[in-house]
Amino acid sequence: MSLLDVATLRKDFPILSRSVRDGKNLIYLDSGATSQKPTSVLDAERNFYETHNAAVHRGAHQLAEEATIAFENARANIASFIGAQTNDVVFTKNATEALNLVAYSFLNATLKSLTGAPLPAGAQRFVLAQGDEVVVTEMEHHSNLVPWQELCAKTGAVLKWLGLTDDGRLNYADLDTVITARTKVVSFTHQSNLLGTINDVAKVSAAARAVGAIVVLDACQSIPHMPVSVEKLDVDFIAWSGHKMLGPMGIGCLWGRNELLASMPPFISGGSMIETVTMEASTFAAPPQRFEAGVPMAAQAVALSAAVDYLQAIGMDKVAAHEHELTTAAIAALSEIKGVRIIGPTDSHDRGSAVSFVVDDIHPHDVGQVLDSLGIAVRVGHHCAWPVCRRYDVPATTRATFYIYNDLNDVKALAAGIKQAQEFFGSN
Ligand code: ALA
Repeated sequence: MSLLDVATLRKDFPILSRSVRDGKNLIYLDSGATSQKPTSVLDAERNFYETHNAAVHRGAHQLAEEATIAFENARANIASFIGAQTNDVVFTKNATEALNLVAYSFLNATLKSLTGAPLPAGAQRFVLAQGDEVVVTEMEHHSNLVPWQELCAKTGAVLKWLGLTDDGRLNYADLDTVITARTKVVSFTHQSNLLGTINDVAKVSAAARAVGAIVVLDACQSIPHMPVSVEKLDVDFIAWSGHKMLGPMGIGCLWGRNELLASMPPFISGGSMIETVTMEASTFAAPPQRFEAGVPMAAQAVALSAAVDYLQAIGMDKVAAHEHELTTAAIAALSEIKGVRIIGPTDSHDRGSAVSFVVDDIHPHDVGQVLDSLGIAVRVGHHCAWPVCRRYDVPATTRATFYIYNDLNDVKALAAGIKQAQEFFGSN
């Protein structure tokens, strides 16, 4: 018996009542890529444009004032969702940009140090020397891998990573050899978008802290799905996206420890991130404005705040428990199908709702196509985590991800769809 009244809740999501592929009911199992949006979120964005629209932090007229208040109230609400202080949350265009912001802080501080110019107080922590080390894991999404590769290529730092075990977990046994006195930053995912694995943040952070490294957490696949509190996690930065947690596209968030944000050089520069500007040089505003150059995404912030309200009304404990039930059922159902191999943990302990799998003798894209013909939307490919596919020696996977609007019938439909794919391709 589910903890959530999914049938009632689904009515809040207009898109879920549409049909696809010649009248099939839509079974949406691709929330790991992007979630669907409830009416309250759509209304919040529309209402902003219809009644308050103005460029925030600029005009002196009434609309500008209202828009600015709505934007900053949204920041406060979103920050409180993860137990953070309001001004420690920076809005970015997505989680990828949030992670790049941190990586570029290292690059910009390093470049500035090479000029001999004085660095702002505390910025020395972001300066990398040849041979310094950046640590990630083999299960990172490209957004938390490629920016660090680029940083290392530009600074002479060395990229290292924690490997994976055969059962889809981080190989914690490597922690003490991979993280060394030269490690300056450890950046890793809270929950793998491909494997579903939930990592032991405390364990990795403790190893990073022991050598004084900065800890960055990619929480794209965790914040939408489980209670996450900055007070409980011993990390320095958290990046996540709005669109995976019922919010709109075009907005992501970076939470950072106040003293670190305050010492970081800007990433993108321009309007409204400055303190003073002359023709020769500029000084910069305090965070979060320092990192929000240009007219920010106020309508999207307001809509993301509505998404936070929606999730809080359900309760993140219930969201996590509901997904756990579906994930457990999905693992059991897929494990019973001969020729299906789950890529990722097959026990539901410390595991989120991304269930990736391969089917013997059928390319993952073909599995996805059969599922699509039945109205079941899944993701296929390397899921922007190509090294994970390499690690498990598969070209790609088919991936189902479950969220609040899914139920056990969707799990049954997925299993039945996989069997149909096997029949279609004659592989069972
Ligand atoms: N990062 C998203 C996913 O895993 C797009 O599907």
